[in-house]
Amino acid sequence: MLKKFSGLVKTILYGKQYPFDEKSIELHEEAYLLRKIVDQDIKELIALERDVYFGETPWTKSAFLAEIHSPIPHLYICIVSKQAQIAGFIGSRLIGNDTHITNIAVGTAFQNRGIGKLLIDEVENFAIMNDCETLSLEVRISNTDAQRLYRRLGFSARNIRKNYYTENNEDALDMIKHLEVR
Ligand SMILES: CC(C)(COP(=O)(O)OP(=O)(O)OC[C@H]1O[C@@H](n2cnc3c(N)ncnc32)[C@H](O)[C@@H]1OP(=O)(O)O)[C@@H](O)C(=O)NCCC(=O)NCCS
Repeated sequence: MLKKFSGLVKTILYGKQYPFDEKSIELHEEAYLLRKIVDQDIKELIALERDVYFGETPWTKSAFLAEIHSPIPHLYICIVSKQAQIAGFIGSRLIGNDTHITNIAVGTAFQNRGIGKLLIDEVENFAIMNDCETLSLEVRISNTDAQRLYRRLGFSARNIRKNYYTENNEDALDMIKHLEVR
């Protein structure tokens, strides 16, 4: 009960993106910068979507803008290469005691280097710092590569959402990870 109340208070109090200090990181001897997403990044995020979704852009400019300026507490961050290219990004929203991953993508040239895991770990830290009990996401039933990564990171299947993806009526696998609350 107290937890539910604290989730509501956080939503009322913050009503904007939580602070996130940018940081330099090294992954397999490559230097990157991890930082918040800003409006000026959206063009590049859409290009990254085109790259990973075979020319499709599931999220439009207005969808990105709505998320990064949402009154709901959220964390939208990207990882930038030494050449100033956005290698990947992740978005999440905090609702009650759950942090929901709304979007994650890593450019094809940067995949399989541990960036996806790193982005999910950052959101998990954000969730734990904000007393969330769970981390959740939806993934296409056909996206078995991403599902394998999520399972390895501690997610398990909770439910199937029928016809979740409207453009081809594909089902979504609803996945959840239970967090250790400090
Ligand atoms: C799903 C996605 C975000 C994963 O990102 P990623 O950066 O490739 O993820 P990671 O590198 O952390 O892990 C992926 C795999 O690479 C492996 N890997 C990680 N570091 C590695 C390294 N240095 N060398 C070789 N393999 C490595 C991991 O073991 C993992 O193996 P798995 O296939 O058995 O799970 C990315 O593939 C993507 O953007 N896909 C398209 C969009 C998409 O499907 N989004 C998810 C929507 S829900």
